Amino acid sequence: PYPFYEQMRESAPVFRDEQTGLWHIFRYDDVERVLSEHATFSSRQRQDEQSETGRLFAASLVNTDPPRHRQLRSLVSQAFTPRAVDALAPRIEAITNDLLDRIAPAGTADLVEALAYPLPVIVIAELMGIPAEDRDRFKKWSDNVIKAAGPDEVLAEDDPGEEASRGEMVEYFLALIERRRQDPGHDLVSALLGAEIDGQQLTVPELVGFCALLLVAGNETTTNLIGNALLSFAGNPGTLERLRAEPGLLPQAIEEVLRYRSPVQAMYRLAAADAELDGTAIPAGDSLVAWIGAANHDPRHFERPEEFDVDRSPNRHLAFGHGVHFCLGSPLARLEARIALQAVLTRLPGIAVVPGAALERVDSTIVFGPKQVPVFWQAT
Ligand code: HEM
Repeated sequence: PYPFYEQMRESAPVFRDEQTGLWHIFRYDDVERVLSEHATFSSRQRQDEQSETGRLFAASLVNTDPPRHRQLRSLVSQAFTPRAVDALAPRIEAITNDLLDRIAPAGTADLVEALAYPLPVIVIAELMGIPAEDRDRFKKWSDNVIKAAGPDEVLAEDDPGEEASRGEMVEYFLALIERRRQDPGHDLVSALLGAEIDGQQLTVPELVGFCALLLVAGNETTTNLIGNALLSFAGNPGTLERLRAEPGLLPQAIEEVLRYRSPVQAMYRLAAADAELDGTAIPAGDSLVAWIGAANHDPRHFERPEEFDVDRSPNRHLAFGHGVHFCLGSPLARLEARIALQAVLTRLPGIAVVPGAALERVDSTIVFGPKQVPVFWQAT
Protein backbone atom coordinates (compact mmCIF):
# COMPACT_ATOMS: atom_id res chain seq x y z
CA PRO A 1 0.00 0.00 0.00
CA TYR A 2 2.99 2.34 0.34
CA PRO A 3 2.96 4.09 -3.07
CA PHE A 4 -0.74 4.81 -2.52
CA TYR A 5 -0.01 6.25 0.93
CA GLU A 6 2.72 8.46 -0.50
CA GLN A 7 0.43 9.77 -3.21
CA MET A 8 -2.32 10.56 -0.69
CA ARG A 9 0.06 12.12 1.87
CA GLU A 10 1.35 14.51 -0.78
CA SER A 11 -1.76 15.28 -2.84
CA ALA A 12 -4.81 14.67 -0.60
CA PRO A 13 -3.68 14.32 3.03
CA VAL A 14 -7.20 15.00 4.36
CA PHE A 15 -9.45 13.28 1.88
CA ARG A 16 -13.23 12.81 1.90
CA ASP A 17 -14.51 9.74 0.06
CA GLU A 18 -17.74 10.98 -1.53
CA GLN A 19 -19.21 7.49 -1.76
CA THR A 20 -18.92 6.60 1.92
CA GLY A 21 -18.65 10.08 3.43
CA LEU A 22 -15.57 8.90 5.37
CA TRP A 23 -12.56 11.17 5.89
CA HIS A 24 -9.13 9.57 5.30
CA ILE A 25 -6.14 11.09 7.12
CA PHE A 26 -2.59 10.32 5.94
CA ARG A 27 0.03 12.65 7.48
CA TYR A 28 1.81 11.87 10.74
CA ASP A 29 0.90 15.10 12.58
CA ASP A 30 -2.77 14.78 11.63
CA VAL A 31 -2.95 11.08 12.48
CA GLU A 32 -1.37 11.76 15.86
CA ARG A 33 -3.96 14.50 16.55
CA VAL A 34 -6.92 12.38 15.46
CA LEU A 35 -5.77 9.50 17.67
CA SER A 36 -5.12 11.61 20.77
CA GLU A 37 -7.54 14.61 20.81
CA HIS A 38 -10.36 12.57 22.30
CA ALA A 39 -12.71 15.49 23.04
CA THR A 40 -12.84 16.31 19.31
CA PHE A 41 -12.27 12.87 17.83
CA SER A 42 -14.35 10.39 19.80
CA SER A 43 -13.73 6.64 19.93
CA ARG A 44 -17.46 6.01 20.05
CA GLN A 45 -18.68 4.35 16.86
CA ARG A 46 -21.94 5.24 15.19
CA GLN A 47 -22.48 1.56 14.40
CA ASP A 48 -22.48 0.75 18.12
CA GLU A 49 -26.24 0.46 18.33
CA GLN A 50 -26.68 -1.15 14.93
CA SER A 51 -24.50 -4.18 14.28
CA GLU A 52 -23.75 -7.21 16.43
CA THR A 53 -20.01 -6.44 16.45
CA GLY A 54 -20.77 -2.85 17.39
CA ARG A 55 -22.96 -3.93 20.28
CA LEU A 56 -20.28 -6.36 21.42
CA PHE A 57 -17.60 -3.70 21.64
CA ALA A 58 -19.76 -0.70 22.47
CA ALA A 59 -19.11 -0.96 26.19
CA SER A 60 -15.44 -1.88 25.83
CA LEU A 61 -12.39 0.19 26.57
CA VAL A 62 -11.35 0.87 23.00
CA ASN A 63 -14.73 2.43 22.08
CA THR A 64 -15.25 4.57 25.20
CA ASP A 65 -14.17 8.16 25.82
CA PRO A 66 -12.95 9.70 29.07
CA PRO A 67 -14.03 9.82 31.88
CA ARG A 68 -15.52 6.30 31.62
CA HIS A 69 -12.50 5.20 29.62
CA ARG A 70 -10.08 6.08 32.43
CA GLN A 71 -12.10 4.08 34.95
CA LEU A 72 -12.32 0.99 32.75
CA ARG A 73 -8.68 1.16 31.81
CA SER A 74 -7.54 1.38 35.42
CA LEU A 75 -9.23 -1.97 36.07
CA VAL A 76 -7.01 -3.88 33.67
CA SER A 77 -3.89 -1.74 33.49
CA GLN A 78 -2.30 -3.47 36.50
CA ALA A 79 -2.22 -6.75 34.63
CA PHE A 80 -0.33 -5.22 31.71
CA THR A 81 2.42 -3.08 33.26
CA PRO A 82 5.92 -3.92 31.96
CA ARG A 83 6.72 -5.46 35.37
CA ALA A 84 3.65 -7.68 35.48
CA VAL A 85 4.32 -8.73 31.91
CA ASP A 86 8.01 -9.48 32.49
CA ALA A 87 6.94 -12.06 35.05
CA LEU A 88 5.33 -13.98 32.17
CA ALA A 89 8.64 -14.32 30.29
CA PRO A 90 9.58 -17.83 31.54
CA ARG A 91 6.14 -19.16 30.60
CA ILE A 92 6.26 -17.49 27.15
CA GLU A 93 9.72 -19.03 26.60
CA ALA A 94 8.43 -22.47 27.56
CA ILE A 95 5.45 -22.22 25.19
CA THR A 96 7.72 -20.99 22.37
CA ASN A 97 10.14 -23.87 22.88
CA ASP A 98 7.32 -26.41 22.93
CA LEU A 99 6.01 -25.05 19.64
CA LEU A 100 9.47 -25.10 18.05
CA ASP A 101 10.23 -28.63 19.38
CA ARG A 102 7.43 -29.86 17.16
CA ILE A 103 8.96 -28.50 13.96
CA ALA A 104 12.72 -28.08 14.57
CA PRO A 105 13.77 -31.48 13.14
CA ALA A 106 11.69 -31.04 10.00
CA GLY A 107 13.66 -28.29 8.30
CA THR A 108 10.57 -26.66 6.83
CA ALA A 109 7.32 -25.13 8.15
CA ASP A 110 4.85 -22.31 7.87
CA LEU A 111 5.95 -20.18 10.82
CA VAL A 112 2.60 -18.40 11.05
CA GLU A 113 0.80 -21.70 11.65
CA ALA A 114 3.56 -23.22 13.78
CA LEU A 115 4.48 -20.24 15.98
CA ALA A 116 3.15 -16.75 15.25
CA TYR A 117 -0.51 -17.78 15.49
CA PRO A 118 -0.53 -20.20 18.46
CA LEU A 119 1.84 -18.30 20.76
CA PRO A 120 -0.26 -15.17 21.46
CA VAL A 121 -3.51 -17.17 21.65
CA ILE A 122 -2.07 -19.54 24.24
CA VAL A 123 -0.67 -16.64 26.29
CA ILE A 124 -3.89 -14.59 26.33
CA ALA A 125 -6.04 -17.67 26.96
CA GLU A 126 -3.87 -18.57 29.98
CA LEU A 127 -4.14 -15.00 31.28
CA MET A 128 -7.92 -15.22 30.97
CA GLY A 129 -8.07 -18.71 32.51
CA ILE A 130 -9.54 -20.34 29.39
CA PRO A 131 -9.15 -24.14 29.08
CA ALA A 132 -6.55 -25.24 26.54
CA GLU A 133 -8.98 -27.33 24.52
CA ASP A 134 -11.20 -24.30 23.77
CA ARG A 135 -8.50 -22.31 22.03
CA ASP A 136 -9.12 -23.63 18.53
CA ARG A 137 -12.52 -21.96 18.36
CA PHE A 138 -10.91 -18.59 18.95
CA LYS A 139 -9.35 -18.29 15.56
CA LYS A 140 -12.62 -18.38 13.67
CA TRP A 141 -14.20 -15.88 16.04
CA SER A 142 -11.39 -13.39 16.00
CA ASP A 143 -10.91 -13.70 12.22
CA ASN A 144 -14.56 -12.83 11.75
CA VAL A 145 -14.53 -9.90 14.14
CA ILE A 146 -11.45 -8.47 12.44
CA LYS A 147 -12.96 -8.90 8.99
CA ALA A 148 -16.00 -6.94 10.14
CA ALA A 149 -14.11 -4.25 12.08
CA GLY A 150 -14.78 -0.78 10.76
CA PRO A 151 -17.41 1.94 10.80
CA ASP A 152 -20.80 1.14 9.31
CA GLU A 153 -20.00 3.16 6.18
CA VAL A 154 -17.51 0.55 4.98
CA LEU A 155 -19.15 -2.63 6.20
CA ALA A 156 -20.59 -5.03 3.69
CA GLU A 157 -23.94 -6.68 4.30
CA ASP A 158 -23.79 -8.77 7.44
CA ASP A 159 -22.77 -12.32 6.60
CA PRO A 160 -24.97 -14.78 8.54
CA GLY A 161 -21.89 -16.99 9.22
CA GLU A 162 -20.11 -14.09 10.83
CA GLU A 163 -23.13 -13.14 12.90
CA ALA A 164 -23.40 -16.74 14.08
CA SER A 165 -19.79 -16.91 15.15
CA ARG A 166 -20.11 -13.63 17.05
CA GLY A 167 -23.17 -15.09 18.74
CA GLU A 168 -21.16 -18.17 19.73
CA MET A 169 -18.42 -15.98 21.15
CA VAL A 170 -20.88 -14.03 23.31
CA GLU A 171 -22.45 -17.28 24.57
CA TYR A 172 -19.00 -18.64 25.36
CA PHE A 173 -17.97 -15.60 27.39
CA LEU A 174 -21.29 -15.47 29.23
CA ALA A 175 -20.72 -19.08 30.33
CA LEU A 176 -17.08 -18.36 31.28
CA ILE A 177 -18.13 -15.34 33.37
CA GLU A 178 -20.74 -17.48 35.15
CA ARG A 179 -18.19 -20.23 35.89
CA ARG A 180 -15.76 -17.68 37.35
CA ARG A 181 -18.48 -16.09 39.41
CA GLN A 182 -19.12 -19.49 41.04
CA ASP A 183 -15.46 -20.44 41.27
CA PRO A 184 -13.00 -17.51 41.06
CA GLY A 185 -9.32 -18.11 40.15
CA HIS A 186 -6.15 -16.05 39.64
CA ASP A 187 -7.08 -14.98 36.13
CA LEU A 188 -8.08 -11.69 34.49
CA VAL A 189 -11.77 -12.57 34.23
CA SER A 190 -12.01 -13.32 37.96
CA ALA A 191 -10.15 -10.08 38.70
CA LEU A 192 -12.62 -8.10 36.54
CA LEU A 193 -15.55 -9.77 38.29
CA GLY A 194 -14.25 -8.61 41.65
CA ALA A 195 -13.52 -5.06 40.45
CA GLU A 196 -15.66 -2.04 41.30
CA ILE A 197 -15.85 1.50 39.96
CA ASP A 198 -17.32 3.90 42.56
CA GLY A 199 -18.88 0.95 44.35
CA GLN A 200 -20.42 -0.40 41.11
CA GLN A 201 -19.43 -3.68 39.50
CA LEU A 202 -18.95 -3.92 35.75
CA THR A 203 -22.12 -4.76 33.84
CA VAL A 204 -22.35 -8.09 32.02
CA PRO A 205 -22.06 -6.40 28.56
CA GLU A 206 -18.94 -4.59 29.80
CA LEU A 207 -17.44 -7.88 30.97
CA VAL A 208 -18.23 -9.63 27.68
CA GLY A 209 -16.83 -6.65 25.75
CA PHE A 210 -13.60 -6.81 27.75
CA CYS A 211 -13.17 -10.53 27.07
CA ALA A 212 -13.82 -10.08 23.35
CA LEU A 213 -11.46 -7.10 23.14
CA LEU A 214 -8.63 -8.93 24.90
CA LEU A 215 -9.11 -11.96 22.69
CA VAL A 216 -9.11 -10.00 19.44
CA ALA A 217 -6.64 -7.24 20.35
CA GLY A 218 -4.13 -9.59 21.91
CA ASN A 219 -4.21 -12.16 19.20
CA GLU A 220 -3.97 -11.41 15.49
CA THR A 221 -2.03 -8.20 16.03
CA THR A 222 0.87 -10.02 17.69
CA THR A 223 0.67 -12.86 15.16
CA ASN A 224 1.08 -10.27 12.42
CA LEU A 225 3.95 -8.53 14.19
CA ILE A 226 5.87 -11.82 14.30
CA GLY A 227 4.96 -12.66 10.67
CA ASN A 228 5.91 -9.17 9.49
CA ALA A 229 9.22 -9.40 11.37
CA LEU A 230 10.11 -12.70 9.71
CA LEU A 231 9.39 -11.20 6.27
CA SER A 232 11.32 -8.01 7.03
CA PHE A 233 14.37 -9.80 8.46
CA ALA A 234 14.51 -12.43 5.74
CA GLY A 235 13.84 -9.88 3.00
CA ASN A 236 16.69 -7.54 3.92
CA PRO A 237 20.02 -9.25 3.21
CA GLY A 238 22.36 -9.47 6.19
CA THR A 239 19.69 -8.71 8.79
CA LEU A 240 19.30 -12.26 10.15
CA GLU A 241 23.10 -12.63 10.45
CA ARG A 242 23.41 -9.29 12.25
CA LEU A 243 20.64 -10.09 14.70
CA ARG A 244 22.24 -13.44 15.44
CA ALA A 245 25.57 -11.74 16.13
CA GLU A 246 24.07 -8.85 18.15
CA PRO A 247 20.99 -10.13 20.04
CA GLY A 248 20.77 -6.79 21.89
CA LEU A 249 19.65 -5.23 18.61
CA LEU A 250 16.44 -7.26 18.45
CA PRO A 251 14.13 -4.90 20.44
CA GLN A 252 15.10 -2.00 18.17
CA ALA A 253 14.64 -4.16 15.08
CA ILE A 254 11.13 -5.05 16.30
CA GLU A 255 10.33 -1.31 16.62
CA GLU A 256 11.37 -0.89 13.00
CA VAL A 257 9.05 -3.74 11.97
CA LEU A 258 6.22 -1.99 13.85
CA ARG A 259 6.95 1.18 11.88
CA TYR A 260 7.70 -0.35 8.50
CA ARG A 261 4.91 -2.97 8.40
CA SER A 262 2.45 -1.78 11.03
CA PRO A 263 0.18 -4.68 12.12
CA VAL A 264 -2.69 -2.20 12.66
CA GLN A 265 -2.79 0.07 9.61
CA ALA A 266 -5.67 2.31 10.66
CA MET A 267 -8.00 3.31 13.51
CA TYR A 268 -11.41 4.98 13.33
CA ARG A 269 -12.80 8.04 15.09
CA LEU A 270 -16.05 10.03 15.06
CA ALA A 271 -15.89 13.86 14.98
CA ALA A 272 -17.66 14.90 18.21
CA ALA A 273 -17.30 18.60 17.35
CA ASP A 274 -16.46 20.65 14.26
CA ALA A 275 -12.74 20.28 13.61
CA GLU A 276 -10.03 21.39 11.22
CA LEU A 277 -7.12 19.38 9.87
CA ASP A 278 -4.49 20.93 7.56
CA GLY A 279 -6.93 23.73 6.68
CA THR A 280 -9.79 21.36 5.87
CA ALA A 281 -13.01 21.63 7.88
CA ILE A 282 -14.40 18.36 9.29
CA PRO A 283 -18.04 18.70 10.40
CA ALA A 284 -19.22 17.18 13.67
CA GLY A 285 -20.82 13.77 13.13
CA ASP A 286 -18.48 12.65 10.32
CA SER A 287 -16.31 9.54 10.69
CA LEU A 288 -12.55 9.49 10.14
CA VAL A 289 -9.94 6.87 9.33
CA ALA A 290 -6.49 7.69 10.73
CA TRP A 291 -3.97 5.83 8.55
CA ILE A 292 -1.25 4.76 10.99
CA GLY A 293 0.51 2.91 8.18
CA ALA A 294 0.80 6.12 6.13
CA ALA A 295 1.91 8.20 9.14
CA ASN A 296 4.70 5.71 9.86
CA HIS A 297 6.13 6.33 6.39
CA ASP A 298 5.82 10.14 6.47
CA PRO A 299 9.14 11.71 5.40
CA ARG A 300 8.30 14.73 7.59
CA HIS A 301 9.08 12.47 10.57
CA PHE A 302 11.29 9.67 9.27
CA GLU A 303 14.42 9.94 7.16
CA ARG A 304 14.43 7.50 4.23
CA PRO A 305 11.01 6.16 5.34
CA GLU A 306 10.90 3.46 2.65
CA GLU A 307 14.11 1.91 3.95
CA PHE A 308 13.88 -0.87 6.55
CA ASP A 309 16.67 0.17 8.93
CA VAL A 310 17.27 -1.80 12.14
CA ASP A 311 19.57 1.00 13.34
CA ARG A 312 16.80 3.60 13.23
CA SER A 313 16.77 5.54 16.50
CA PRO A 314 14.78 7.38 17.72
CA ASN A 315 11.79 5.68 16.12
CA ARG A 316 8.58 7.41 17.24
CA HIS A 317 6.17 5.30 15.23
CA LEU A 318 2.43 5.32 15.90
CA ALA A 319 1.94 1.55 15.54
CA PHE A 320 0.47 1.27 19.06
CA GLY A 321 -1.57 4.46 18.71
CA HIS A 322 -1.13 7.65 20.74
CA GLY A 323 -2.78 9.28 23.76
CA VAL A 324 -5.23 7.74 26.23
CA HIS A 325 -5.96 4.69 24.05
CA PHE A 326 -2.26 3.85 23.58
CA CYS A 327 -2.11 0.07 23.31
CA LEU A 328 -2.54 -1.53 26.68
CA GLY A 329 -0.93 -4.75 25.46
CA SER A 330 2.22 -3.19 23.98
CA PRO A 331 4.61 -4.53 26.68
CA LEU A 332 3.17 -8.02 26.16
CA ALA A 333 3.29 -7.80 22.36
CA ARG A 334 6.92 -6.63 22.45
CA LEU A 335 7.91 -9.38 24.88
CA GLU A 336 6.20 -12.16 22.90
CA ALA A 337 7.77 -10.95 19.66
CA ARG A 338 11.23 -10.73 21.22
CA ILE A 339 11.07 -14.23 22.73
CA ALA A 340 9.61 -15.81 19.57
CA LEU A 341 12.09 -14.18 17.19
CA GLN A 342 15.08 -14.84 19.44
CA ALA A 343 14.12 -18.53 19.55
CA VAL A 344 13.79 -18.64 15.76
CA LEU A 345 17.25 -17.06 15.36
CA THR A 346 18.96 -19.49 17.73
CA ARG A 347 17.02 -22.68 17.05
CA LEU A 348 16.46 -22.57 13.29
CA PRO A 349 19.93 -22.02 11.73
CA GLY A 350 20.21 -20.71 8.20
CA ILE A 351 16.50 -19.89 8.07
CA ALA A 352 15.17 -18.45 4.77
CA VAL A 353 11.76 -17.81 3.27
CA VAL A 354 10.88 -20.35 0.56
CA PRO A 355 11.68 -18.54 -2.72
CA GLY A 356 8.71 -17.69 -4.89
CA ALA A 357 6.19 -18.47 -2.13
CA ALA A 358 2.92 -16.63 -2.73
CA LEU A 359 2.51 -14.41 0.31
CA GLU A 360 -1.13 -13.55 0.76
CA ARG A 361 -2.25 -10.79 3.13
CA VAL A 362 -4.75 -11.55 5.88
CA ASP A 363 -8.30 -10.54 4.86
CA SER A 364 -8.76 -7.15 6.46
CA THR A 365 -8.39 -3.51 5.51
CA ILE A 366 -6.95 -2.49 8.85
CA VAL A 367 -4.99 -5.50 10.10
CA PHE A 368 -1.81 -6.07 8.08
CA GLY A 369 0.28 -9.23 7.94
CA PRO A 370 0.99 -12.41 5.94
CA LYS A 371 -1.36 -15.42 6.01
CA GLN A 372 1.65 -17.75 5.80
CA VAL A 373 5.43 -17.45 6.06
CA PRO A 374 6.82 -20.70 4.58
CA VAL A 375 10.46 -21.12 5.60
CA PHE A 376 13.24 -23.73 5.54
CA TRP A 377 16.38 -24.16 7.66
CA GLN A 378 19.17 -26.69 8.37
CA ALA A 379 17.27 -29.54 9.99
CA THR A 380 18.68 -31.10 13.16
C1 HEM B 1 -5.28 -0.49 21.76
C2 HEM B 1 -2.18 -1.88 18.30
C3 HEM B 1 -1.19 -5.96 20.80
C4 HEM B 1 -4.73 -4.84 23.90
C5 HEM B 1 -4.47 -0.49 20.64
C6 HEM B 1 -4.36 0.60 19.69
C7 HEM B 1 -3.52 0.19 18.70
C8 HEM B 1 -3.07 -1.14 19.05
C9 HEM B 1 -3.12 0.97 17.46
C10 HEM B 1 -5.04 1.98 19.79
C11 HEM B 1 -6.49 1.96 19.43
C12 HEM B 1 -7.08 3.36 19.32
O1 HEM B 1 -6.37 4.37 19.41
O2 HEM B 1 -8.30 3.44 19.11
C13 HEM B 1 -1.63 -3.10 18.69
C14 HEM B 1 -0.56 -3.79 17.98
C15 HEM B 1 -0.29 -4.94 18.70
C16 HEM B 1 -1.18 -4.96 19.85
C17 HEM B 1 0.09 -3.29 16.70
C18 HEM B 1 0.72 -6.03 18.44
C19 HEM B 1 1.77 -5.86 17.72
C20 HEM B 1 -2.03 -6.00 21.88
C21 HEM B 1 -2.07 -7.03 22.89
C22 HEM B 1 -3.10 -6.73 23.75
C23 HEM B 1 -3.68 -5.48 23.29
C24 HEM B 1 -1.11 -8.23 22.97
C25 HEM B 1 -3.62 -7.44 24.98
C26 HEM B 1 -3.34 -8.59 25.37
C27 HEM B 1 -5.18 -3.58 23.57
C28 HEM B 1 -6.27 -2.92 24.27
C29 HEM B 1 -6.43 -1.66 23.65
C30 HEM B 1 -5.43 -1.58 22.59
C31 HEM B 1 -7.08 -3.47 25.44
C32 HEM B 1 -7.44 -0.57 24.02
C33 HEM B 1 -6.78 0.43 24.92
C34 HEM B 1 -7.65 1.62 25.22
O3 HEM B 1 -8.63 1.87 24.51
O4 HEM B 1 -7.36 2.28 26.22
N1 HEM B 1 -3.65 -1.54 20.23
N2 HEM B 1 -1.98 -3.84 19.80
N3 HEM B 1 -3.01 -5.07 22.16
N4 HEM B 1 -4.70 -2.76 22.57
FE1 HEM B 1 -3.27 -3.25 21.26
